[in-house]
Amino acid sequence: MNQKRIVIAGGSGFIGTALAQEFIRRGYAVIVLTRSPRARTDGIREVAWDAKNFGDWAAQLDGATAVINLTGKNINCPHTPENLRAITASRMDSVNAVAAAIAQASVPPLVWVQASAVGFYGDTRDAACDESAPSGTDNLANICRQWEAACANLALPQTRKVILRIGFVLGRDGGALPVLARLTKLFLGGAVGSGRQYISWIHLADLVAMFLAVVERENMSGTFNAVAPNAVTNAEFMRELRRALHRPWSPPAPALAVKLGAKLMGSDPSLALISQRCMPRKFQEAGFQFQFHELRGALQNLCRKE
Ligand SMILES: NC(=O)c1ccc[n+]([C@@H]2O[C@H](COP(=O)([O-])OP(=O)(O)OC[C@H]3O[C@@H](n4cnc5c(N)ncnc54)[C@H](OP(=O)(O)O)[C@@H]3O)[C@@H](O)[C@H]2O)c1
Repeated sequence: MNQKRIVIAGGSGFIGTALAQEFIRRGYAVIVLTRSPRARTDGIREVAWDAKNFGDWAAQLDGATAVINLTGKNINCPHTPENLRAITASRMDSVNAVAAAIAQASVPPLVWVQASAVGFYGDTRDAACDESAPSGTDNLANICRQWEAACANLALPQTRKVILRIGFVLGRDGGALPVLARLTKLFLGGAVGSGRQYISWIHLADLVAMFLAVVERENMSGTFNAVAPNAVTNAEFMRELRRALHRPWSPPAPALAVKLGAKLMGSDPSLALISQRCMPRKFQEAGFQFQFHELRGALQNLCRKE
């Protein structure tokens, strides 16, 4: 029997690296589409693409079990008009390229899993959002809406489509947690702004399990919030992080300090100040078993010394 194949576009980054390793562990062949391919010794094959144009790389999708698209310029940068254009273009171009490859495959992939983000909902304050909540009106919400529509509106009758609205991913070796942990160890881990804004977090292990579930379960399609069931406020998040790192107290960081800090760190203050309280209603209805329901357990797992 032919080995099942997974193609991960943008699979060289934080989420893709964990995902590729897990699919290899489960016996799949894994191809990563990247702009900078290198030779690897871990069984993962990297294939060059430019993330926008149809090319030889498209043959990898022919007969594949799944294509997963994680491509996109990282949003952790100042949200200048130029950066927002690049954030949008990298997402739209890659979706269009994946769509063209699926359309031209003689045996199209069974499933396309497309990354999106809880930024889709905009600033939701205290309101809990499941997948039926409307989209927001800020820059990132507008980008997520276009990004999702570029995938959802396509007619690809032989390929099941899944869009994951991913929350703040907590991992040991990437994403924003290691940066927050470093600041917290320096007693700079206070509540940010009002501290009342919600953070919809997810442990990387649960996110990887969600990708596996949507690839393998044929009855899962459409849009899912990929977040843990218990979003917390920023004040709670920082308190739990200080607890996990044995830093009982840090001064709070008012919004002005966050704006200055974001400038110094080449980030955007909106990322720390916006409130998103999302619920994984559709994963829960599908019977998905979370390994990390509560933030305390997730942070203790990620912050313990190896
Ligand atoms: N991490 C999170 O907390 C989080 C939360 C919500 C949503 N997401 C979404 O999930 C996806 C994966 O996230 P991640 O944290 O793994 O991201 P990441 O580490 O930044 O990786 C994304 C990949 O996209 C490619 N890429 C970067 N800039 C690009 C550009 N300008 N044009 C074309 N390709 C570009 C890169 O691949 P090459 O350089 O190898 O080509 C990179 O490895 C992203 O779409 C992100 O928006 C992530």
